[in-house]
Amino acid sequence: IPTNPSIRVHGGLKDSDRIFQNIYNDFDWHVDGAVKRGDWYKTKDFMAKGHDWIIDEIKKSGLRGRGGAGFNSGLKYSFMPKSSPDGRPSYLVINADESEPGTCKDREIMRHEPHKLLEGALLVGFSMRARAAYIFIRGEFYNEALNLQQAIDEAYAKGFFGPNAAGSGYAFDCYLHRGAGAYICGEETALIESLEGKQGKPRLKPPFPANIGLYNCPTTVTNVETVAVVPTILRRGPDWFASFGRKNNSGTKLFCISGHVNNPITVEEEMSIPLRELIDKHCGGVIGGWDNLLGIIPGGSSVPVIPKHVCEDALMDFDDLKAKQTALGTAAVIVMNKQTDIINAIARLSKFYKYESCGQCTPCREGTNWLLNMMDRFVVGRAEIEEIDTIDEVSRMIEGHTICALGDAAAWPVQGLVRHFRQEMVDRIKKFKAENPGKTRRVRM
Ligand code: NAI
Ligand code: SF4
Repeated sequence: IPTNPSIRVHGGLKDSDRIFQNIYNDFDWHVDGAVKRGDWYKTKDFMAKGHDWIIDEIKKSGLRGRGGAGFNSGLKYSFMPKSSPDGRPSYLVINADESEPGTCKDREIMRHEPHKLLEGALLVGFSMRARAAYIFIRGEFYNEALNLQQAIDEAYAKGFFGPNAAGSGYAFDCYLHRGAGAYICGEETALIESLEGKQGKPRLKPPFPANIGLYNCPTTVTNVETVAVVPTILRRGPDWFASFGRKNNSGTKLFCISGHVNNPITVEEEMSIPLRELIDKHCGGVIGGWDNLLGIIPGGSSVPVIPKHVCEDALMDFDDLKAKQTALGTAAVIVMNKQTDIINAIARLSKFYKYESCGQCTPCREGTNWLLNMMDRFVVGRAEIEEIDTIDEVSRMIEGHTICALGDAAAWPVQGLVRHFRQEMVDRIKKFKAENPGKTRRVRM
């Protein structure tokens, strides 16, 4: 167990400190293999220590949600009611609708470490006095759903779920529900709507799901990775988990690195590992070398891109990336080298968000359309230079003015482009004008 001196070199997690020992499927993922690796060990003893003990341990570990928002998990779980005077049951909903472009960490857990997720479901569900866990899995994850259902059946067969879950005397059920392919159903209230059999359209918050959630009952929606690390936190202790990373950014974390690297990978590392070290150590570096790097989207497609000079000293954690005007998000690192057309890359994201908008609020429905139309013109340079400020302004009219975070997610990549790659946009417009004298721009808002 590593110590936590005030100054330490971040990154360089030892194999023995990796929570997800089977992330590359080296061993048997079924229940017998999982039990051999330590899953489902003394689960009953942790439950005997009580609901609040589990929440306190999670609080002490400093665990923050791994789905993107980074909300303090122990605090979030403590929002659930401790009693039910009106007889409403409480539910745990596990968000396995992993659809953020570039993100594939939860997929690996469901493929190769399903029992870590299921044991976590029981412990987290018990901590908030939930009657059952619903796992909402992305529709496209067909094989993962098969694995997970097999693992759930195995857990029932071993008595880990059911009327006397893990021999604790506590009744707990677990259900798997497949989504139907909508990105927006990863938003927690849209997910709840979808589980209830309705169209996946986000609800206004408040009320938060902890108050009124699934079937109008108290509900916590939480990410796969967040739940799957809890049994290890309880087993090895919150201090062990908190010894990794920096203050308020503790623990180990799954990073998925894709794009222009020599070896794309999903890897567990220490939180706060330098971005460059993550890429050099685990991905064999940027294609063409570090000097050939153009920019990186460090947290899935919903966060702003940062250029090479900002990447140089970036740490992969919530606070450092926030200070650099981007975010850790889902920790999906999308690397782009100098052969990338960055304007086109961001335009492609605008297309994605326009397509995935559920359309129920005007700034998002109309604004994503505006962003895409303008970005399409910026790609070819058929625009006026003043319009660079206009698109930034349009993105700010969307940001913070919508029901859910999809509006912000559409706005931020465009803002990152304008902030860091304005010159590329100007050059493209000048080039178009030079090559097409007299051609007016086509406006189709
Ligand atoms: P949020 O910040 O609104 O909420 C975070 C969590 O804390 C929610 O569960 C919310 O219910 C809870 N919460 C916050 N304040 C509360 C309060 N006062 N009382 C009770 N509960 C409270 O963020 P949101 O909308 O849940 O997530 C947005 C993030 O999701 C983005 O940062 C994005 O990176 C990520 N994302 C992840 C995707 C994936 O595939 N994993 C897909 C799309 C987005
Ligand atoms: Fe729907 Fe977009 Fe509004 Fe979210 S922000 S509720 S996706 S229209």
